[in-house]
Amino acid sequence: MSNNTTGSVLWFTGLSGSGKSTLADMTYKHFKTQGLRVEQLDGDTVRQIFPNTGFTKENRIEHIERIGYLCSVLEKHGIIVIASFISPYHSSREFVRNLCHHFIEIYMSTPLSECEKRDIKGLYKKARQNEIQNFTGISDPYEIPKGPEITLNTQNKTIAESFEELLNSIQQETLLPNMTSMTL
Ligand code: ADX
Repeated sequence: MSNNTTGSVLWFTGLSGSGKSTLADMTYKHFKTQGLRVEQLDGDTVRQIFPNTGFTKENRIEHIERIGYLCSVLEKHGIIVIASFISPYHSSREFVRNLCHHFIEIYMSTPLSECEKRDIKGLYKKARQNEIQNFTGISDPYEIPKGPEITLNTQNKTIAESFEELLNSIQQETLLPNMTSMTL
């Protein structure tokens, strides 16, 4: 298989439960089906491999900067990287942006109230009961992106609707010009 796509980094940022991983998964599978060279990195998956990563500000910054470097290396090899990390700090997201050539920041703006209502992993409840410390949005900050390429709020939308909106936005980004013209 060969193709002529240029590498890109699609960086999903937002609160836990905002829809990052779900939409990142769908995007990965969609691109894969099209025969594109794509790789996926997700916070929970990476943290399973490196369970001592931690959630202090310093821990998160180091984690994101390492991941960002990895993304930039993959991107250089023409790979579309789908990365989904809370990445709450503006400075570390900018660090990654500056390492990468085609960095598309996708801000999942789903409000905290909705993420907490969903509480898919039961972590918000634990954070409210002080069973988890440094929980983003509850006892730890989330710095809203200043100039994301794409903003997506999944509240009051089906997953399919959110994905369609996302794909339309990605396709408007001229940074993935060869998405459909690749050769299998
Ligand atoms: S980041 O802040 O360092 O970018 P990352 O995306 O890797 O976070 O991991 C977030 C995931 O870790 C969440 O989806 C959640 O499942 C889990 N988690 C466990 N503890 C915390 C915490 N204190 N704050 C945020 N997420 C947590």
